[in-house]
This record gives sequence, C-alpha cells and structure tokens, in this order.
Amino acid sequence: MKRETDVIRILLVEDDEALGSLLLEELQDAGYRTKLASTAEKALSLALADTFDIIISDLRLPGADGLALLKNVRNRLPETAPDFLMITAFGSVEKAVECLKAGAEDFLTKPLDLEHFHLTLRRMLEKRAMRSTIQDLRRVQADQSSFHGMYGRSPQMLNLFRQIEQIAKADGPVLVHGESGTGKEFIARAIHNESSFSDGPFLVVNCAGIPESLLESEFFGHAAGSFTGAQGKREGIFAEAEGGTLFLDEIGDMPYALQAKVLRMLQDGKIRPVGSNQERQVHVRIVAATNHDLEKQVADGKFREDLFFRLETFALHAPPLREREDDIELLAALFLQQHALRLEKPVREISSAAMETLRRYPFPGNVRELHNAIERAVVFCAGREIQRKDLPSRIRKERTARGPVGSAGEVLMIDDHSLPSLLDIENRYIAHVLERVAGNKRKAAEILGIGRRTLYRRLTEMPTDAVNRHAATANL
Ligand SMILES: Nc1ncnc2c1ncn2[C@@H]1O[C@H](COP(=O)(O)OP(=O)(O)OP(=O)(O)O)[C@@H](O)[C@H]1O
Ligand SMILES: [Mg+2]
Repeated sequence: MKRETDVIRILLVEDDEALGSLLLEELQDAGYRTKLASTAEKALSLALADTFDIIISDLRLPGADGLALLKNVRNRLPETAPDFLMITAFGSVEKAVECLKAGAEDFLTKPLDLEHFHLTLRRMLEKRAMRSTIQDLRRVQADQSSFHGMYGRSPQMLNLFRQIEQIAKADGPVLVHGESGTGKEFIARAIHNESSFSDGPFLVVNCAGIPESLLESEFFGHAAGSFTGAQGKREGIFAEAEGGTLFLDEIGDMPYALQAKVLRMLQDGKIRPVGSNQERQVHVRIVAATNHDLEKQVADGKFREDLFFRLETFALHAPPLREREDDIELLAALFLQQHALRLEKPVREISSAAMETLRRYPFPGNVRELHNAIERAVVFCAGREIQRKDLPSRIRKERTARGPVGSAGEVLMIDDHSLPSLLDIENRYIAHVLERVAGNKRKAAEILGIGRRTLYRRLTEMPTDAVNRHAATANL
C-alpha cells in the first residue's frame, strides 16, 4: 500500500544497537524511508550523498557527537540541510539547549516515549512542509508572471499587462469588460497603481448595489437640507475620490438618468451636488467595468450611447480563463499555496489527474471559481497532494473536454468575436452528434430529426475541415 509518508526520508544516527534497530523499525513501520548510521562520520557522508528531510541523532556518539554533526551538516548544506531532532540523555538539558541554538528543531530525552516521538516527528514535518510552501509562494510571487498582484503567463494576459501600462499613462476613462470573475477589479487597481493618480485614493462603487433614490446624492453629494433626511452636507463619491481613481463597477446597471450626469463629469470634470446651484471641479480618473454587453444595452435603449462612446475610447478586455489554459496551472499553484498557508495544512501539490480535470473544465465562473475550487480542495485534502476527489463535484463531473469531442454546449459556443453562420452551427452540431454515436448514421439522423439521405447530402456538402475532423474522430 502506498502511504502518504512514503516520500519522507529520515536519517537515524544511533550507536546503541538495540535502540537503533527499534527506532529503525518504528520509522519504517510508520512509512518513512529510513537509513541508519552508527557514527557522526558515517551519517555525514550519507547526508551529503543523499537527500533527507530529517536527521534524528543521538547526541552522544563515539567520535564526533550529534552537535558536531549538526554543525557540519548545516555548514556543508546551507540551503538544503535536513531538520534535526536530537536525542539526549536525561538530565543533559544544557547540551540540548546548545543544540537548539545551533539550529536543531527539537530534542527528546531518553528514555524515549514512542508516542511522543512520533508526535514530535509529525509536527516537525508539518512545519517543514509549511516552510517550503512559504518559499514556493515567495518564488511564484517574485516571478515575472505577476503584475500588480495579477498572475498570468498566457499571451492574452501578457498582452493585457502591456495594454494596462499604456492606458494607465493617459488620464481618460477606461472601460473594462469581461465575464464575471475574470479579474476586472484587479485590472482597475493595476491601472490606478500605474497611473499618475496612484498617490490618491482608489474607491470602488458598485452601481448595481445602491438604491436608485440615493444614487445621485451618493455620487455627487448634496447640500444640507436638500431633501428629506439630508441633514448635513455630503461630499459624494466623486469628491471623495479627488486626485485618485473611482472604479464604477457594473456600470451597465447605472440608472439612465444618472448616466447623463456622469457623462457631464467625464466631459468637463464638473459635478453639481443635489440641491446646490454651485458646480465644482473634480480631478478623478474613472475606470468602469461591466460583464454585460454594453453595446447591446445601447441598442436596447438601456445605456446612453454618448456615455458608451466616451467610455469605450480606452477599452480593455479581461479574457475568460477557459481561453488561457496556461494560466490555469499557474493560478491553481498560487491559490494552493495561499490556502495551504492560511489553513495551516501541509498540502503541497496537485495530482496530475486533478490538474488534468481542472485543465479540461471550462470555468464559467473564471478565476474566482478556480480560487474557490482550490480552497475547497485544500480543506478536504488528507495528504500532501490534492486528488481529483477533493475537487468540487461540478468540476469533476464536467465531461467537457477541450479535445475533438466536446459537449454540445461547447461545440455550439459562440463568442462575440466570431459569429458563425446558421449553416456553420448546423454543420458543427451534425459532426458532434455523429461523434457521440460513433459514426452510426441511422442513430445520428434519428437524433437530428432528419432523414438519412438528408444527412448524407449534408455530409457531402460540408466544408472539408468539418468532415475531416468528424472523420478522424468517428472512424468514417
Ligand atoms: N490574474 C489574477 N491573478 C490572481 N488572482 C486573480 C486574477 N484574476 C482574478 N483573480 C481573483 O479572482 C477573484 C475575482 O476577481 P475580480 O473580483 O477582480 O473579478 P471581476 O471580474 O470583478 O468579477 P465580477 O464581474 O463578478 O465582479 C478575486 O478573488 C481575485 O483575487
Ligand atoms: Mg467585480
């Protein structure tokens, strides 16, 4: 049986033969890969030749003692020294303290209590795993893949980082559009940090979250006594954001009437508080975000066209996660480390089956969904490695492969950039059904609700790439 502790390697240094073989057996039974040395000299050469997680050493040894071994190993392996657990004779506390000062993790006194021995060992291993998690995290964070806290190495994200840098230098409004959970707020913060407004505040307002009756005064402030309940004067969000960036989230949900006032502010920088006849000038960078199709909202008369054009001058697109597979792995590793650290769990890796499942999943909730999935997996993970079973069932059950056989939903997926014709969609669906029934044309025609002859005709008329794809996977 493969045990979780299989990969942990321990070097045991003990000259007492009876105790040495007892501990060796204990460690091996617990699943640790263990080697035994009877002197400090032999232990040193083993430690240099091989990799160990922990050295358990008797302090008193013939020749050089355990403390000398500890110092030697740490000198020779400054970066990769194993952790030390010292075993000292009862009463030699001073020596034990000296060992701790020299860098030993812990010590136990003889006679050994085996239960305590195992417990100490487990605690040391957990601490060790946590330390390397922190190191990994630092490495990922120091890595080139991060841009103002946003991680990405896909060409789409690298391109986005470049665009942010360029757009941040201008001071006109920016519109960020993208699906939910793609990081639009992160993008807004990055723009702020890169811009000349970075010394000022960064304020977030969710346009969908404020009751309509309050919106105008929330945004523009109000003069004292301007309406029932408006006792004092209020500055309003635009004024509070003075000198900084105002992030208008879900701008598509802003009431129509208010849109005109926002446009006015964008055009000449002026705002007028409710109930006041004095205008005031503000210097604020506006970044707006939406996950709606604003253009469609303009067509439907829900969003002002003039405001749309004003915002759209600098538009950024947050690409969905399913279009940048390269980032799934990077982000999963990042979130794993963050959650393991926060939850104080020694989870270190993601099994290849679990990673493959993540890679194939289309992530309708984008980065936020991946973040939550990894958090759940870390909570449920029982060992050092996240398994497929630790992932949320929604992800496990998803059979949507990116390969040639996708689900009907994926086959028919339409993105805003390439609108296929009806004929194209029909062809894709025909090919898909044929793949699913392994090329059985009778069954396919039945599912499609067309005659077999029609199916044959449609197949011969299909563009060659669709037929090839279909033929390759359905053995036609
Ligand atoms: N590139 C990234 N690197 C690291 N974390 C990211 C990245 N993109 C998004 N996230 C994380 O994903 C979560 C969602 O991001 P954010 O809130 O910015 O999304 P959003 O596009 O504003 O979504 P919504 O439209 O639902 O408001 C956040 O927890 C954020 O930390
Ligand atoms: Mg958001």
